[in-house]
Amino acid sequence: MNEPLVLGIETSCDETGVGIVRGHTLLADAVASSVDEHARFGGVVPEVASRAHLEAMVPTIERACETAGIRLHDVDAIAVTNGPGLAGALLVGVAAAKALALGLGKPIYGVNHLASHVAVDQLEHGALPEPCLALLVSGGHSSLLRVDDVTTGVEPLGSTIDDAAGEAFDKVARLLGLPFPGGPYIDRAAASGNSIAIDFPRGLSARKDLERHRFDFSFSGLKTAVARWVEARERSGESVPVNDVAASFQEAVCDVLVRKALDAAGHHGIEDILIGGGVAANSRLRALAEERAAGLGIRVRVPRPGLCTDNGAMVAALGSEMVARGRTPSPLDLPADSSLPVTSVLA
Ligand code: KG4
Ligand code: ZN
Repeated sequence: MNEPLVLGIETSCDETGVGIVRGHTLLADAVASSVDEHARFGGVVPEVASRAHLEAMVPTIERACETAGIRLHDVDAIAVTNGPGLAGALLVGVAAAKALALGLGKPIYGVNHLASHVAVDQLEHGALPEPCLALLVSGGHSSLLRVDDVTTGVEPLGSTIDDAAGEAFDKVARLLGLPFPGGPYIDRAAASGNSIAIDFPRGLSARKDLERHRFDFSFSGLKTAVARWVEARERSGESVPVNDVAASFQEAVCDVLVRKALDAAGHHGIEDILIGGGVAANSRLRALAEERAAGLGIRVRVPRPGLCTDNGAMVAALGSEMVARGRTPSPLDLPADSSLPVTSVLA
């Protein structure tokens, strides 16, 4: 018998994602992004995102079905991100998923956005190693998670105490006059810069910080340090070496992310690290993680960049795992929760 066909809907931020999977096989990953509409504001505007989700929802569902070569009636279950994320944006996805579940008479699974970032790797590299250590880094979140079973057992080990890693990339890019979202532009500029040109601070890495914040991150001090450095250069009438600043900043972020992820893996005796979220697309982060992990006998899994950024396939992947493990579907009146904790994997 065929494995169940699961349709996943993601609307927690500015991407309207609809993915369709069968087991661990990806059949369609349709994404409509409103990122261009936010660019001139230098960040995502919640009301603009909600409106864009409303407009994109039906066409994106249709496009996903067409790509997968299926009809909506073929779907066995609906999965939807019910948090965390922007409240209004989440509501659009949850309402659409409820309508589909009710209309088709199929079960609905309200799933956690962060756990979906972990589950998506199954579409590319097969079943998740258990346990694994997940480093999730995006514009909205930066956390270290111990994952024993992605459908039930996700334990937060640490997270950012101020800015998310992607947010730091975006803010520093803005400071350097690079477009939004800044991550890919910093990545590109850094490729021809010197990463040891400027010694930027490594947040929460000093001995006294490690006592309370061993697995937590902080990027706001780094962002301020970059701003001060650039201001001083401008004040003295010198030009700003954008590539060197980008490379040195990127090195500071990646150094801390990798160091803390490996420390957490070592502390928990975990031999597999999974990196997810938009910042996982960063070339230096991938290279540094692989290089340092290899020396410790730790394996690193990173989904391809298109699966790291927000998409519907990741939600379908987690929904599919819920079905495979026989988890009880969510009630049809499941709520959207903008501050859903990562420990709440299924509504
Ligand atoms: O996961 P995602 O698409 O959305 C959120 O849930 O936030 O992540 C978007 C973030 C943005 O901050 C963007 O600048 C960052 O991921 N990003 C990168 C790269 N590509 C995207 N950061 C660093 N290097 C990249 N290559
Ligand atoms: Zn995300």
